[in-house]
Amino acid sequence: MQENVIPHNFSVDRKMRTSIKGHGSFLLWFTGLSGSGKSTVANAVEKALVKKGIHTYILDGDNVRKGLNNNLSFSPEDRKENIRRIAEVANLMVDAGLITLAAFVSPYQKDRENIKQIVGEENYVEIFVNTPIEECERRDVKGLYAKARAGEIKDFTGVNAPYEAPTAPDIEIDTSQVSVDKAVELVLNYIENKLKIDE
Ligand code: ADX
Repeated sequence: MQENVIPHNFSVDRKMRTSIKGHGSFLLWFTGLSGSGKSTVANAVEKALVKKGIHTYILDGDNVRKGLNNNLSFSPEDRKENIRRIAEVANLMVDAGLITLAAFVSPYQKDRENIKQIVGEENYVEIFVNTPIEECERRDVKGLYAKARAGEIKDFTGVNAPYEAPTAPDIEIDTSQVSVDKAVELVLNYIENKLKIDE
């Protein structure tokens, strides 16, 4: 089937899009346990970027799983497909010239490697939200840890499904140690040069 799909070459490219916007585009990928603070930090980073007039979009596990990926479970195979689809969507958004923020548990190293393949290593910034599970569980904002411990959720990351920690993340944040403002500062400092475009 794929052999008969021939890509069309469009005349407006990413360089032209980023040139209009006045900044580079790339993917900020937040990985970490449920309740680690991924979405909170991603949200605050997006807010700070928008304040600077930067064009952004945010993708988040809880939202995407209600729409695009509402047919996927939390089995390893479905998580793989979840991450693959998000990476493809993020790739389009980066091509559109947006700073794309994605907050997903993404517990498997292999799946995160695949994101890099899809969007290109130079477009991928990995942010490991490394908040200890004890703290995530203490917060238990959604009550999911309690349910998982009671055996009501199977394949729950950190309880009865694994989380493979990134070995060389670009940025590491433990939200039990640093404030959201500090976390935003860390991310903004890291991406300062990536935001620049040579015109
Ligand atoms: S991922 O592993 O495939 O990357 P994703 O980020 O999309 O996960 O979704 C995680 C969110 O779904 C969590 O923040 C949590 O609210 C909810 N959730 C429901 N069931 C599970 C589960 N078994 N494991 C992890 N998160 C779950």
